[in-house]
Amino acid sequence: MNSSNQKQRIAIGADHAGFAVKQAIKRHLEQAGYTVEDVGTFSEESVDYPDSARAVAERVAAGKEPLGVLVCGTGIGVAIAANKVPGIRAAVVHDKVTARAAREHNDANVLTLGGRLIEPGLAIEIVKEFLDAQFAGGRHQRRVDKITEMEQVRIRR
Ligand code: RB5
Repeated sequence: MNSSNQKQRIAIGADHAGFAVKQAIKRHLEQAGYTVEDVGTFSEESVDYPDSARAVAERVAAGKEPLGVLVCGTGIGVAIAANKVPGIRAAVVHDKVTARAAREHNDANVLTLGGRLIEPGLAIEIVKEFLDAQFAGGRHQRRVDKITEMEQVRIRR
Protein backbone atom coordinates (compact mmCIF):
# COMPACT_ATOMS: atom_id res chain seq x y z
CA MET A 1 0.00 0.00 0.00
CA ASN A 2 1.15 3.54 -0.72
CA SER A 3 4.31 2.44 -2.50
CA SER A 4 5.11 5.89 -3.91
CA ASN A 5 7.11 8.30 -1.77
CA GLN A 6 4.41 10.91 -2.09
CA LYS A 7 1.90 10.90 0.76
CA GLN A 8 -1.58 9.95 -0.28
CA ARG A 9 -4.63 11.64 1.13
CA ILE A 10 -7.73 9.81 2.33
CA ALA A 11 -10.99 11.21 3.72
CA ILE A 12 -12.55 9.14 6.49
CA GLY A 13 -15.73 9.39 8.52
CA ALA A 14 -18.15 7.40 10.63
CA ASP A 15 -21.19 7.56 12.84
CA HIS A 16 -21.21 6.28 16.43
CA ALA A 17 -21.65 2.66 15.26
CA GLY A 18 -18.60 2.91 13.04
CA PHE A 19 -16.44 4.98 15.36
CA ALA A 20 -14.23 2.17 16.74
CA VAL A 21 -13.52 0.66 13.32
CA LYS A 22 -12.90 4.12 11.86
CA GLN A 23 -10.32 4.80 14.57
CA ALA A 24 -8.54 1.50 13.84
CA ILE A 25 -8.44 2.23 10.10
CA LYS A 26 -7.21 5.76 10.70
CA ARG A 27 -4.38 4.57 12.98
CA HIS A 28 -3.33 2.02 10.39
CA LEU A 29 -3.39 4.48 7.50
CA GLU A 30 -1.42 7.10 9.39
CA GLN A 31 1.21 4.51 10.31
CA ALA A 32 1.36 3.53 6.64
CA GLY A 33 2.13 7.14 5.68
CA TYR A 34 -1.26 8.39 4.52
CA THR A 35 -2.55 11.84 5.35
CA VAL A 36 -5.98 11.13 6.81
CA GLU A 37 -8.68 13.81 6.81
CA ASP A 38 -11.06 12.70 9.57
CA VAL A 39 -14.47 14.41 9.38
CA GLY A 40 -15.67 12.64 12.55
CA THR A 41 -17.53 11.51 14.49
CA PHE A 42 -15.11 11.53 17.41
CA SER A 43 -16.92 9.47 20.05
CA GLU A 44 -19.58 6.78 20.48
CA GLU A 45 -22.26 9.36 21.24
CA SER A 46 -25.20 8.90 18.86
CA VAL A 47 -25.06 10.99 15.67
CA ASP A 48 -26.74 10.88 12.25
CA TYR A 49 -24.76 8.97 9.60
CA PRO A 50 -25.72 11.29 6.66
CA ASP A 51 -23.62 14.05 8.23
CA SER A 52 -20.27 12.23 8.04
CA ALA A 53 -21.25 10.62 4.72
CA ARG A 54 -21.95 14.02 3.20
CA ALA A 55 -18.73 15.52 4.57
CA VAL A 56 -16.54 12.75 3.13
CA ALA A 57 -18.46 12.60 -0.16
CA GLU A 58 -18.24 16.36 -0.73
CA ARG A 59 -14.50 16.35 -0.05
CA VAL A 60 -13.90 13.49 -2.49
CA ALA A 61 -16.20 14.98 -5.14
CA ALA A 62 -14.31 18.29 -4.84
CA GLY A 63 -10.98 16.49 -5.31
CA LYS A 64 -9.63 17.35 -1.85
CA GLU A 65 -8.92 13.65 -1.33
CA PRO A 66 -9.11 11.14 -4.20
CA LEU A 67 -10.71 8.41 -2.10
CA GLY A 68 -12.82 8.12 1.04
CA VAL A 69 -13.76 5.54 3.64
CA LEU A 70 -17.00 5.63 5.62
CA VAL A 71 -18.14 3.39 8.47
CA CYS A 72 -21.61 3.12 10.00
CA GLY A 73 -23.30 0.11 11.60
CA THR A 74 -23.86 -1.75 8.34
CA GLY A 75 -22.14 0.43 5.72
CA ILE A 76 -25.51 0.85 4.02
CA GLY A 77 -26.71 4.20 5.34
CA VAL A 78 -23.45 6.00 4.61
CA ALA A 79 -23.36 4.47 1.11
CA ILE A 80 -26.90 5.61 0.30
CA ALA A 81 -26.12 9.12 1.55
CA ALA A 82 -22.70 9.42 -0.10
CA ASN A 83 -24.12 8.29 -3.45
CA LYS A 84 -26.41 11.33 -3.48
CA VAL A 85 -23.38 13.55 -4.07
CA PRO A 86 -22.63 13.86 -7.81
CA GLY A 87 -19.32 12.25 -8.71
CA ILE A 88 -19.42 9.74 -5.88
CA ARG A 89 -19.46 6.01 -6.43
CA ALA A 90 -19.69 4.54 -2.95
CA ALA A 91 -19.58 0.75 -2.52
CA VAL A 92 -20.60 -1.29 0.52
CA VAL A 93 -17.90 -3.92 0.90
CA HIS A 94 -17.31 -6.60 3.51
CA ASP A 95 -14.65 -8.78 1.89
CA LYS A 96 -11.40 -8.39 -0.03
CA VAL A 97 -12.74 -9.71 -3.36
CA THR A 98 -15.42 -7.07 -3.67
CA ALA A 99 -13.06 -4.38 -2.31
CA ARG A 100 -10.76 -5.00 -5.30
CA ALA A 101 -13.67 -5.29 -7.77
CA ALA A 102 -15.15 -2.02 -6.54
CA ARG A 103 -11.98 -0.22 -7.67
CA GLU A 104 -11.12 -2.28 -10.76
CA HIS A 105 -14.61 -2.53 -12.27
CA ASN A 106 -16.64 0.30 -10.77
CA ASP A 107 -14.01 2.95 -10.11
CA ALA A 108 -15.55 3.31 -6.66
CA ASN A 109 -14.13 6.35 -4.91
CA VAL A 110 -15.70 5.75 -1.51
CA LEU A 111 -15.53 2.47 0.41
CA THR A 112 -18.18 1.88 3.04
CA LEU A 113 -18.01 -0.67 5.84
CA GLY A 114 -20.25 -2.00 8.60
CA GLY A 115 -18.62 -1.39 11.94
CA ARG A 116 -21.12 -3.73 13.63
CA LEU A 117 -20.46 -6.51 11.13
CA ILE A 118 -16.69 -6.85 10.84
CA GLU A 119 -13.69 -6.79 13.16
CA PRO A 120 -11.18 -3.93 12.86
CA GLY A 121 -8.50 -6.32 11.54
CA LEU A 122 -10.64 -7.40 8.59
CA ALA A 123 -11.73 -3.81 7.97
CA ILE A 124 -8.06 -2.81 7.64
CA GLU A 125 -7.38 -5.69 5.22
CA ILE A 126 -10.35 -4.59 3.10
CA VAL A 127 -9.19 -0.97 3.06
CA LYS A 128 -5.67 -2.05 2.03
CA GLU A 129 -7.11 -4.12 -0.84
CA PHE A 130 -9.26 -1.18 -1.97
CA LEU A 131 -6.33 1.25 -1.90
CA ASP A 132 -3.97 -1.15 -3.69
CA ALA A 133 -6.35 -1.78 -6.60
CA GLN A 134 -6.51 0.42 -9.70
CA PHE A 135 -9.44 1.12 -12.02
CA ALA A 136 -9.06 -1.22 -15.01
CA GLY A 137 -10.62 1.17 -17.57
CA GLY A 138 -11.50 -0.33 -20.99
CA ARG A 139 -15.04 -1.71 -21.09
CA HIS A 140 -15.46 -0.66 -17.46
CA GLN A 141 -14.85 2.97 -18.41
CA ARG A 142 -17.81 2.87 -20.80
CA ARG A 143 -20.05 1.55 -18.02
CA VAL A 144 -18.87 4.09 -15.47
CA ASP A 145 -19.44 6.81 -18.08
CA LYS A 146 -23.07 5.67 -18.34
CA ILE A 147 -23.47 6.09 -14.58
CA THR A 148 -21.97 9.59 -14.78
CA GLU A 149 -24.38 10.39 -17.62
CA MET A 150 -27.35 9.41 -15.41
CA GLU A 151 -26.07 11.78 -12.77
CA GLN A 152 -25.82 14.65 -15.25
CA VAL A 153 -29.38 14.12 -16.50
CA ARG A 154 -30.55 14.43 -12.88
CA ILE A 155 -28.60 17.66 -12.37
CA ARG A 156 -30.26 19.21 -15.47
CA ARG A 157 -33.80 18.45 -14.22
C1 RB5 B 1 -27.18 3.44 13.68
O1 RB5 B 1 -27.89 2.78 14.69
C2 RB5 B 1 -27.31 2.67 12.37
O2 RB5 B 1 -28.60 2.73 11.90
C3 RB5 B 1 -26.34 3.19 11.36
O3 RB5 B 1 -25.06 3.11 11.88
C4 RB5 B 1 -26.25 2.49 10.03
O4 RB5 B 1 -26.10 1.12 10.20
C5 RB5 B 1 -27.26 2.84 9.03
O5 RB5 B 1 -27.23 2.34 7.90
